[in-house]
Amino acid sequence: MCGIVGYNGTKRAVDILLDSLSKLEYRGYDSAGIAIRDKDIEVFKSKGKLANLKEKIENIELKGTVGIGHTRWATHGEPSENNAHPHISNDGSVTLVHNGIIENYQELILKLEKHNYKFYSDTDTEVLTNIIDYYYKKYKMGPIDAINRTMVRVRGSYAIAVMFKDYPDEIWVARKDSPMIIGQNKDGVYVASDVPAILKYTNKVYYIDNLEAACLKKDQVIFYDLNGDVIKKELTCIKWDAEAAEKEGYEHFMIKEINEQPDVIKKTINSYIQDNKIDLARSGLTEDILKSFKQIYIIACGSAYHVGVCAQYILEDLTRLPVRVEIASEFRYRNPLLDKKGLAIIISQSGETADSLAALRECKKQGVKTLGIINVVGSSIAREADYVLYTLAGPEIAVATTKAFSTQLIVSYILATEIAHIKRKINKKTYLELIKEIQTLPDKTKNILDNLTKSIQKIANKFSYIHDAFYIGRNLDYAISLEGSLKLKEVSYIHSEAYAAGELKHGTISLIEDNTLVIGIITQKEIYEKTISNLVEVKSRGAYIITVNPNDLDVSKVSNFTINIPETNKYFYPSLTVIPLQLLSYYITVSKGLDVDKPRNLAKSVTVE
Ligand code: M6R
Repeated sequence: MCGIVGYNGTKRAVDILLDSLSKLEYRGYDSAGIAIRDKDIEVFKSKGKLANLKEKIENIELKGTVGIGHTRWATHGEPSENNAHPHISNDGSVTLVHNGIIENYQELILKLEKHNYKFYSDTDTEVLTNIIDYYYKKYKMGPIDAINRTMVRVRGSYAIAVMFKDYPDEIWVARKDSPMIIGQNKDGVYVASDVPAILKYTNKVYYIDNLEAACLKKDQVIFYDLNGDVIKKELTCIKWDAEAAEKEGYEHFMIKEINEQPDVIKKTINSYIQDNKIDLARSGLTEDILKSFKQIYIIACGSAYHVGVCAQYILEDLTRLPVRVEIASEFRYRNPLLDKKGLAIIISQSGETADSLAALRECKKQGVKTLGIINVVGSSIAREADYVLYTLAGPEIAVATTKAFSTQLIVSYILATEIAHIKRKINKKTYLELIKEIQTLPDKTKNILDNLTKSIQKIANKFSYIHDAFYIGRNLDYAISLEGSLKLKEVSYIHSEAYAAGELKHGTISLIEDNTLVIGIITQKEIYEKTISNLVEVKSRGAYIITVNPNDLDVSKVSNFTINIPETNKYFYPSLTVIPLQLLSYYITVSKGLDVDKPRNLAKSVTVE
């Protein structure tokens, strides 16, 4: 959802802002804009991708060393130049970029109209800009007073960067429930929605908390609380390296990230398993704490929810604890009845997904302990959860998640194995066998990438014309069907559905006709035959069948195209079946000539409801 950046230092701001925005385009690409301070504040905006803005300003000499920028994912108002950020207050005193949503903007318009404010756009952000201007002029007590009064008055979520005409050497920022980090090096101070935007310049960052503001000078950052009192903060060192956020010779981030999976899952495994022993101590999860839970809730959105569906099968089977998995946006509004002896696991790559964050807060409110499985260190969910297990996927740039998904699966296997062991639901031998098998997954993943990529690319080219696809499986194979189907539709715009194989006959099978693509996932031995029967049923109605199954299973009678994966323990197949499904989605999309890293209408991190 929208990306904001800012720079105040000794270098030309325009270069840094455009470069940083290019790293944030995955957050939104409906329009882009920058404001640069030289003598005056100059604003440039364009509809569409950042390239349009770059083209617009390429022949303009912009020497200023202070500026803010924005890449937009439209919420209020269509994608247009007029609605693009930065927005400017009526007389140009305040220039602002914003990520988030101001919920009471209509009430604020009425208030401002009484004071003769006029509006040129359809955005809540223009209203926010003018509210700051209103308090700035009414109380004449400077930027921090105007920003704090605004924070008290507005409802919603925001991360803002603001330039005041009267304060040429400063950028002001504030946030509530939208991500923002502030970086610093010898060349100046940087602000961004996300770490990859500034990683090239610095890995030293400050985290700004909810309802805090900061003044960014060229060599200093001053933080304030809602009372306007100065607060002290320490710089934190981010461990990601800058190259990880670059394409490094790959055509797209998605394929780069697919290929990084053996490496990042290995790193994740090694951070929790040493000397054949699982160690979760760094998260604060001691044996006694893990033993105490009587119920597990898993809450997440999108692909992270699909990890939750996999984890539900595995955790429940291994630990014999009741496990319930829920979509965060549903959970938060259903007045859930939670067991105080339960553990709520929130899975999120970004750690900023608005619904997941709200679900976490609901669990905490009800006195339930929370565990975040999170990729971005220092993100809101990571900071608010009682315990955190980090995935070591590194920066994930492609909108469609691949490597973060795979590392989340790994963490859920490790957690399930550890709880089962501590609760004596599995013996030492099984514990060691499971650990050993988890450790084989990086090589098996690499084996799939090395040996199957070419043939999957070939078959993908044949399917760029299709309108529908169905993914079917049972148990964990159904769980991974959900992810395969989402992966295909989100990047290729091909309609696809995932179905529990046994459920097809209850309606969906009527959609099967000649050459409908059906992808069958068949890895769970006890139910092989049942899924195969369901595939026979759709084949006899004309479907073209692709199967993803272990080497030892003969599916030649039913499958038109077979993707053979290495064998593993039944619990860990999702890690191996998802790889060909990612490749299939990637290559179908590339063969359609679509922008695979930035699918239409999507944003990487969904920080609004
Ligand atoms: O950052 P999160 O893991 O909380 O994001 C959740 C979903 O928005 C995310 O998994 C989304 O479904 C993916 N882009 C799909 O590839």
